[in-house]
Amino acid sequence: MNSNEIVEINKQKNYIKKIKKHIDNIELKTGKKQKYFVFTTGCQMNAHESEKLSGILEEMGYVASDKEENADFVIYNTCCIRENAEDKIYGRLGRLKHYKNEKNKNMKIALCGCMTQQDVVIQKLQQSYKYLDIVFGTFNIHKLPELLYTSLKSEETSTIFDIWKEHKEIVEDMPILREYKYKASVNIMFGCNNYCTYCIVPYVRGRERSRNYKDIIFEIENLVSDGVKEITLLGQNVNSYGKNLENPITFAQLLNKINNIKGLERIRFMTSHPKDLSDELIETIKNCNKVCKYIHLPIQSGSTKILKKMNRGYTKENYIELINKIKDSIPNIMISTDIIVGFPGETEEDFQDTLDIIKKVKFSNAFTFIYSKRTGTPAATMTEQIPENIIKDRFDRLLNVLNPIINEINNKQVGKIYDILVEDISKQDENILTGRADNNSIVHFKGKKELIGNIVKVRIVDNKTFYLIGERI
Ligand code: SAH
Ligand code: SF4
Ligand code: F3S
Repeated sequence: MNSNEIVEINKQKNYIKKIKKHIDNIELKTGKKQKYFVFTTGCQMNAHESEKLSGILEEMGYVASDKEENADFVIYNTCCIRENAEDKIYGRLGRLKHYKNEKNKNMKIALCGCMTQQDVVIQKLQQSYKYLDIVFGTFNIHKLPELLYTSLKSEETSTIFDIWKEHKEIVEDMPILREYKYKASVNIMFGCNNYCTYCIVPYVRGRERSRNYKDIIFEIENLVSDGVKEITLLGQNVNSYGKNLENPITFAQLLNKINNIKGLERIRFMTSHPKDLSDELIETIKNCNKVCKYIHLPIQSGSTKILKKMNRGYTKENYIELINKIKDSIPNIMISTDIIVGFPGETEEDFQDTLDIIKKVKFSNAFTFIYSKRTGTPAATMTEQIPENIIKDRFDRLLNVLNPIINEINNKQVGKIYDILVEDISKQDENILTGRADNNSIVHFKGKKELIGNIVKVRIVDNKTFYLIGERI
């Protein structure tokens, strides 16, 4: 951390103390705890940032509210990757306005995350969402204490907007409330430089910047001494980690260092970009005993023509070659992917290429998306946008090809014995536990909740397509 960063942290920690006093006073007067509610949409990066927001709020003296309408401070940490992610937020904000007007006039409402980094969104909020108290972005979440303090002390009801256009300091060492005791996410980099033509992320998360590896190792060592067994390294394109550091290091070198941390059991990472996946990385995944034998490797489309229009930097053949290389080197590895259907200009022939690659690669899982036009991205102004009915038809046909393959891959796992990190009890049945194998397969099996957080041996006895059934041995 540099001196600016230390000054900034201390300033925010001071605001935390001031708010704590304020909150304690309210509790003394009313006999009631002040409550907060954090609602998160989007990727693991956002989920991780919400853990930081919750940590800060708890440090201030707020306690979690199980219901949004009962909270004194509500914060939405938003995503804008597709239009429906934004629609969901606008819908919820409408409901929240009602709660604020009818039930709790002192309710404070804040909006942050990727959505707020867009000018069009800010304009809309200024016009039609005047009841919001605080709006901030992705580059200044550590400023929550200062913003909230200003809002609590202000007589005015107008919204505080604090949106930065780029990152200034990487602020470490703020409080955090982790969702799980035994697994945790760790940011290794922020932003993205790839500018895939459909994607809003580079515009709302800024240029790619990697964290210093020593800070990452230090954070993981602390997590491990706190009982964490599995970590997931987060970045939009982890394979380009370290390239722009003062003393460059590769992602593979980082993995090797993390693999040496005593007490850590499993290392996961996401997301890998096919264009940057090096031979060095494949060797490292193979040789590091703690690195899980699972890669999420988004293909997006199987058509070389569409991949070029998407600015993905690889062809269908490159991708297949890469998969073959990975599978030859690490035989039991599982590979999952992301696929977009209906990118501008996608013909039936292009779509057939996508189906073809799914059949060839045999993904263990795939996240499938209908193309969504994002204002400000190059693809939004491309001609040949595809009509909705054609996209829907392709999407259905995609699932019809994909799901039997996922099923086939999972059938092959029946009879195998896996080490499972137990994550939770099943939502349907408290006698059933759910956990993950090294290869990321979800496994349900009978067991007591005391096993949560442990790694246990389980034999797979049945396949339910999206999860497996096991028996403890
Ligand atoms: N950085 C990651 C992906 C982040 S976004 C990577 O490059 O792999 C997660 C997924 O959302 C993407 O892989 C893509 O499949 C999907 N996505 C992104 N923008 C989209 C859009 N405009 N419409 C539909 N899906 C989109
Ligand atoms: Fe978006 Fe492409 Fe960056 Fe992934 S690599 S975040 S899809 S621009
Ligand atoms: Fe969404 Fe932002 Fe993640 S747009 S997918 S929350 S980086």
